[in-house]
Amino acid sequence: MSAVCLQLRGCTVEDARKNVLIHNVSLEIGENECVGIIGESGSGKTMTARAILGLLSQDLKLDAKEMVLDGEDLLAMNPRQKRDIIGGKIGFVPQNTVAYLHPLIRIRNQIADGYQKAGRGTKKEGEAKAEKLLAQVGIHDPKRVMNSYPGQLSGGMRQRVNIAMALMCDPRLIIADEPTTALDCIVQKQVTELFFQLHKQYNTAILMISHNLTMLKKYCDRIIVMYAGQIVEAGTTQEVFEHPRHPYTKALIEVIPRLDQDPNVPLLEIPGYVPEKDRGRSSCLFADRCPNCRPQCRKPLQINEAQAHFSRCVM
Ligand SMILES: Nc1ncnc2c1ncn2[C@@H]1O[C@H](COP(=O)(O)OP(=O)(O)O)[C@@H](O)[C@H]1O
Ligand SMILES: [Mg+2]
Repeated sequence: MSAVCLQLRGCTVEDARKNVLIHNVSLEIGENECVGIIGESGSGKTMTARAILGLLSQDLKLDAKEMVLDGEDLLAMNPRQKRDIIGGKIGFVPQNTVAYLHPLIRIRNQIADGYQKAGRGTKKEGEAKAEKLLAQVGIHDPKRVMNSYPGQLSGGMRQRVNIAMALMCDPRLIIADEPTTALDCIVQKQVTELFFQLHKQYNTAILMISHNLTMLKKYCDRIIVMYAGQIVEAGTTQEVFEHPRHPYTKALIEVIPRLDQDPNVPLLEIPGYVPEKDRGRSSCLFADRCPNCRPQCRKPLQINEAQAHFSRCVM
């Protein structure tokens, strides 16, 4: 792997009642690397992203052994410094395009002010850069979009604006949280391709959260699988998809909707629920749903954290 862009070690988030939301999450993203996170809803993908971004709500408690971005210790930063990181070294593309853009501020001001605030240049320079980026993300009339309010733009346009905004300060890392979920199929494909084209063009590392396994398989170098707030499997894309080791990953791959499948046939689903309670326990969290569950899975697992192809399963 190339030099490390982001190093996260032992990251745990608890709510005010000490319920564990994510437990002992460790991940590493190399410079220029593209890493995908998959897992059912509620598995802690967004929470992991928000922990890195310093965007956890105030009632949540973050504990981490290490969080370093491009040589800078994120844990040593105060909330203000951490906020400056977003839009600076980290570009964030959120899932909810409506909530992320301020409805009452023209795109021009949202996109160029951050650039100016980050000390990258004047507002005029920011506007010029924004227009260029908007054109690159496939917006044909950047000037009109710059003068629009978010409500005047379609979901696809807003997400393109978000992507352009995330690129404004030449970030080292882009964190994209289900960036295309709200978009229709054709726009999804365009936005996804655009993403990876930009990734190649600007050599930006990407952490991509998505349910679109086909897309991740095509573009990601490595895949992280989350379940109930823990990483249960991590490895190269090929290893994880072609030789999945954790029963959860196997089940998840089974449920990928196949494009050639009869649309009237219901998709397979993994029976049971993601546990909400006691997510910090050291026995297997998937045991209740696992077809291969053995008595030892109910006891603390002995897992080698340093495995190249990591699996939180003793089988
Ligand atoms: N603001 C919050 N306060 C408390 N719990 C939360 C909050 N947001 C999410 N959760 C809980 O944290 C867990 C992980 O959620 P999340 O990271 O959003 O999952 P994912 O993005 O994988 O769907 C879930 O159990 C969810 O109910
Ligand atoms: Mg989420």
